Amino acid sequence: MQARGPLMIEHRLIERMMSLIKHALAQIESIHKIDPVFVDTMVDFIHMYADRTHHGKEEEILFRDLKNRPLSTEDQRVMKELIEEHAFCRQTNKELVEANTRYRTGDESALADIASKLHTFVEFYPKHIQKEDMVFFTASRTYFSDEEDKAMLAEFWEFDRKMIHEKYKSVVEGLQKQ
Ligand SMILES: [Fe+2]
Ligand SMILES: [Fe+2]
Repeated sequence: MQARGPLMIEHRLIERMMSLIKHALAQIESIHKIDPVFVDTMVDFIHMYADRTHHGKEEEILFRDLKNRPLSTEDQRVMKELIEEHAFCRQTNKELVEANTRYRTGDESALADIASKLHTFVEFYPKHIQKEDMVFFTASRTYFSDEEDKAMLAEFWEFDRKMIHEKYKSVVEGLQKQ
């Protein structure tokens, strides 16, 4: 498998989560409520999977290595854009957490904010994923030899292996703070 393989497989799971979010949005429209626990699950998926595990590998391994390569102006521009989009996603998820907290405590107006953030995600991800799958991953592969790509794949697996420990360390730390 090439290094971009796991990233593209992860994109497919993110797309499946976006379908679930679309379904949740339709429910908000029809019954004017949402289960805050379901929102928690989506927030956790975006935070731990889409952002830490997936964007983490992109930024901390792929983009890190690309920074030392003679990138074309266009590839440089796209990489900068992708990094900004990751930051936007992180910020949107934070705002979703805040809206969900307000909703839980009985603030009815928070439902519209939750819906707007969810809408942002279903709009955002397909475009971001397409830009990576169809444009950027193909372009970035040309800057690495087969050996370098293999080494990157190995580093991706190692990154994933550490993630489960990071996740549950943060769970314990979160509980200790309460
Ligand atoms: Fe990305
Ligand atoms: Fe991605």
